[in-house]
Amino acid sequence: MKLEDIDLTDGANFVDHVPHEWFSLLRREAPVWWHPMDGPGGGGFWCVTAYEDCVNVNRDWEHFSSYRGGALFQDMESDQLEQQRLMMLNMDPTMHTRYRRLVNKGFTPRMVRDLRTTMVGYADDIVDAVCERGTADFVEEIAAELPLLLIAEILGVPQEDRRMVFDWSNRMIGSADPEYQVSEEVAGEAAMQVYAYADELAARKRSSPTADVLTVLLDAEVEGEKLTQLEIDLFFLLLIVAGNETTRNLMSGAMAAFFEHPDQWEKLRTDRSHLSSAVEEMLRFVTPVMHFRRTATMPCQIGDQSIEDGDKIVFWHTSANRDESVFDRPDEFDITRSPNNHIAFGGGGPHFCLGANLARMEIEVMFDRLLERLPDIRLDGEVQRLQSNFINGTKHLPVAFNPSAPRHR
Ligand code: HEM
Repeated sequence: MKLEDIDLTDGANFVDHVPHEWFSLLRREAPVWWHPMDGPGGGGFWCVTAYEDCVNVNRDWEHFSSYRGGALFQDMESDQLEQQRLMMLNMDPTMHTRYRRLVNKGFTPRMVRDLRTTMVGYADDIVDAVCERGTADFVEEIAAELPLLLIAEILGVPQEDRRMVFDWSNRMIGSADPEYQVSEEVAGEAAMQVYAYADELAARKRSSPTADVLTVLLDAEVEGEKLTQLEIDLFFLLLIVAGNETTRNLMSGAMAAFFEHPDQWEKLRTDRSHLSSAVEEMLRFVTPVMHFRRTATMPCQIGDQSIEDGDKIVFWHTSANRDESVFDRPDEFDITRSPNNHIAFGGGGPHFCLGANLARMEIEVMFDRLLERLPDIRLDGEVQRLQSNFINGTKHLPVAFNPSAPRHR
């Protein structure tokens, strides 16, 4: 295996499994490596794979900007970039801090704790919907539901509209994977539908305010000015999209990991006191968001490597979370691992995942209900993985379990 063989730009190289053998080679031989790229624009990017460097890039926003070229891998045309910069994911402090403050209140540990009872109810409903059948597609019928229900609750999307908004947002992001690929026209139409819906919902909440994050945004001011409708639409979109695919793929990837490590499932089933360390290990082992992107704002260094102003940098959480200088036996799935300072939610910089508290509780609650109600859950077919170098995703995970009766019968 040679560095020249590595191609982290092609989602097809992540379908069979995350190419951890490449990341391990990079950490060993070239932790800050210039990854060449073909095609229009050509050039390449710095590929950062060691834990410490990833954390530094993530925290040092003055040198490594989310605003300059956006936080996503794909380069954008200037008019598209301009619009995307209205979303806080693609801002730098101090503007970022002002926007982030507006929504922080909706996601505090206390706010999330208050949702716990609702969450347990939803998780039980999800199990109720499949338990009599004895089989399910874990991704679509179990993992996808809870994140969607919760974010809708927090934003104030009425129950009856949730599925529709979710379908639009899925169509809008599309994906590199052929199964989900949509034409630019369809994606554009879906975006218009999400925006129109957010506008209409905002109008309803202006006339009769409710206790939710969308209502808070309508009243919020940045530098003495109310948010524009486009800013509200983009906030709405970011919040809908950011927590869905991520948490869904964490749960699906973790379920697949348990199928490969049945001793760990058994350990957790018989002693639920491991649940919170198990959640952290699921996050480390799966790392659903594999990278984010930054752009250098001035000449600087990452480790020993000199970086030029304007260079593109991609840092890989998925590699940092298997760095052997930080994690003992990094390729082992060990639900009692301690310490476990993974960076699945980011390396502690200004963009640290807004939904981390929420996601942790969703994962804990869902697995608690599964361990309780479908204790013999097992793989029942072929795992189909997503073609993407961004999301470590599972498309289909057929499962079987002994049929049981739903609650309240
Ligand atoms: C297992 C689930 C999740 C993972 C692995 C995850 C991962 C991440 C990561 C790595 C970032 C950092 C982005 C950067 O550095 O540029 C991030 C940001 C973000 N996450 Fe999550 N996330 C998850 C769940 C959620 C949930 C449930 C929400 C709920 C709304 C959410 C909302 C956000 C938002 C709004 C940001 C942008 C924050 C900012 O720009 O300040 N995430 N997430």
